[in-house]
Amino acid sequence: MKILLTGGAGQLGQVLVKKLYRKHEVLPVDIVTHGAPGSPIELQRLDITKHRQVKRLFSEYSPEIVINTAAMTRVDACELHRETASLVNSEAVENLINCCEKSVLFVQISTDYVFDGTAGPYDENDVPNPNSIYGKTKLAGENLIREKHTNSLIIRPNVLYTSSTQSAASFFAWVYTSLKTNLVIKVVTDQVSNPAYAPDLAEAIEFALDHDLTGIYHYGSRNYVSRYEFALEIAEFFSLPADLIIPVKTDELRQAAARPAHSGLKTDKITAAGVRVRSTRECLQTILAERSSG
Ligand SMILES: NC(=O)c1ccc[n+]([C@@H]2O[C@H](COP(=O)([O-])OP(=O)(O)OC[C@H]3O[C@@H](n4cnc5c(N)ncnc54)[C@H](OP(=O)(O)O)[C@@H]3O)[C@@H](O)[C@H]2O)c1
Repeated sequence: MKILLTGGAGQLGQVLVKKLYRKHEVLPVDIVTHGAPGSPIELQRLDITKHRQVKRLFSEYSPEIVINTAAMTRVDACELHRETASLVNSEAVENLINCCEKSVLFVQISTDYVFDGTAGPYDENDVPNPNSIYGKTKLAGENLIREKHTNSLIIRPNVLYTSSTQSAASFFAWVYTSLKTNLVIKVVTDQVSNPAYAPDLAEAIEFALDHDLTGIYHYGSRNYVSRYEFALEIAEFFSLPADLIIPVKTDELRQAAARPAHSGLKTDKITAAGVRVRSTRECLQTILAERSSG
C-alpha cells in the first residue's frame, strides 16, 4: 500500500518508517526534514497546516493510507499558544481528510489527554472530557475525523517513548538524560498511566493495517504506573542514581496545563483483536538488551 506518514521526524514517526517500509511504500513527511537519523527513506517537507501544500502532495503521491502522527505535543506550550495548537492538532487534520478520497484509510494518533483523569483507566466507550488545550485540540481532531471520514482508525496511546534519549516528546528520554548527567528531577507521584513503547505501538499499527481495523482503539502497557514509579524503573534498569528522583505532587510543579491524574488506557479491545501488549519492565528490558548488543 502507498502510505503517507506525517510527523516522520517525530519519535513515533521515525519508528513507524522503519517498521512499515519493508511491507509498504512509505512517504514520510514533516515540517522539519532533519532529525530522523538512520531513516531508510528520505523525509519530504510538508507543513500539514498549509492547505495548498497538502493538496499538492496528495495529487502528486495519491496515498492509499494516511497515518497522521504530526502534532503539537508540548502540552504547556499548547496552553500558551492556543491558536497554533488548534491549527496543528485539529484544523490540519481537516486539511488532510479533505484531501482523502473515501477509499483512503485515515489513521490518527490521538492521546489519553482527551480524558480528564478523574476516573481512569479508560476504555474506548468512555466519554472524553479534556482538561487542557492539548487534549481539547486533539479531541477536536478526532471529532472531525468521526464526522467527515468514516474510513478511519483512531489509536490513543499514552506516555510514548522509544529507546532514543534525544526526543523532547519522551518522558523516558528526559528521565534517562537527566539522571545520566546527574541532574535532580522532580517527578509526580499522582499521575498514573500505562506508558506506550513506540516500537510496540508501531507493531500494533502494522497489525491494524494488516487486519483492516477501524474505529477507536486504546494502546498502552499491560501495567499501570505513576510517573514516579516509571522513573524509578528506568533508574533501576539503566543503573542510574534513583536518589536524584524527587517525588512531588502535580500541584507543586505549577505547570501551565492541567494533566489527567488517574489516566491510563484499557487495552482489552486491542488485545482481543490480536495485538500483544507488554509490561513497562519488558519494554525497558528490550531497550537494555539493544544497548548491550551495541
Ligand atoms: N509523546 C507522548 O508522550 C504522546 C503521548 C500520547 C499521544 N501522543 C501522540 O502521538 C503522536 C506522536 O507523538 P510523538 O511523541 O512522536 O511526537 P513528536 O516527537 O513531537 O512528533 C510530532 C512531529 O510532528 C511535527 N509537526 C509539528 N507541527 C507540524 C506541522 N505543522 N506539519 C508537519 N509536521 C509537524 C513535529 O515537528 P516539531 O518537533 O518541529 O514540532 C514532530 O516532528 C502525536 O499525535 C501525539 O499527540 C504522544
